[in-house]
Amino acid sequence: MSQETKDVRSLDDARGYLEEYFSPLMCEIPDEGQSGLKCIDILHDVFNSGEVKGKRLIDVGCGPAIYQFISASRFFSEIVCAEYSESGRAEIEKWVAEDPAAFDWSEYVQYFCDMEGTRDIWEDRQKQLRQAIKAVVPCDVHKPNPIEPIQMEPFDVVMTLFCIETACTDRKSYTAAVQNVSTLLKPGGTLILQTYIGASFYAVGGVRHPTVKLDVDFVLQTITDAGFDDVKCSYYPAAKREHYTTSDVTALLHLTAKKM
Ligand SMILES: C[S@@+](CC[C@H](N)C(=O)[O-])C[C@H]1O[C@@H](n2cnc3c(N)ncnc32)[C@H](O)[C@@H]1O
Repeated sequence: MSQETKDVRSLDDARGYLEEYFSPLMCEIPDEGQSGLKCIDILHDVFNSGEVKGKRLIDVGCGPAIYQFISASRFFSEIVCAEYSESGRAEIEKWVAEDPAAFDWSEYVQYFCDMEGTRDIWEDRQKQLRQAIKAVVPCDVHKPNPIEPIQMEPFDVVMTLFCIETACTDRKSYTAAVQNVSTLLKPGGTLILQTYIGASFYAVGGVRHPTVKLDVDFVLQTITDAGFDDVKCSYYPAAKREHYTTSDVTALLHLTAKKM
């Protein structure tokens, strides 16, 4: 199948993204191999380690997804979902409102609850997550305040997963975007960042979304230059392959860092 290349950074086919990347549960994305699953599992470890403290969390570029909040909602009672695309925000709003047309995340909730040992109360945990999502707001990482015109007190945790590299055309704009996102975090707060390494695109429904090609050293230097320390990271190589299905990604990087 020939793939169309467009300069599309916004995730306009949010539902297609969910169907392709998140259905069924634990589907292995061919180009990511086991790495995508590891990036999901590590969110459980991060929140249950007790190292990430506070009660207010924002996810920048959350897309239409809520899997990343399941563990967090056990500890964080105020979660703000910030997303550039209207279609992404609409999917989250449908899920929070229990709209029957919403994407079904229940298997993901059960999966995280299995790790927590809360499987017998997974429906309560799902309710807890819905209640923790306090707002779904537009955002743009290229703005000095990414959620402008909204002003919010700085957060205890800022999460941004596979977003900044898709929003940026080059390393200069990536550096600026990381600095913009960091303004949402209070001093001493935790950044949780996951990113594609080596990718020039990811595809949804055959439409290629361009991404800025990153390497680990550059990402770590950018995080340090943006005023973070205590950086902890894990690196997951992508599958070795000759042909690409959804992305030419070479690895996935997960990191946490503290804002000085
Ligand atoms: C690959 S998706 C990741 C979504 C989600 N974080 C996840 O883990 O599934 C990249 C997201 O970045 C968003 N995005 C694109 N440009 C952006 C921008 N300028 N500011 C903020 N988000 C942007 C897209 O709309 C999309 O939802």
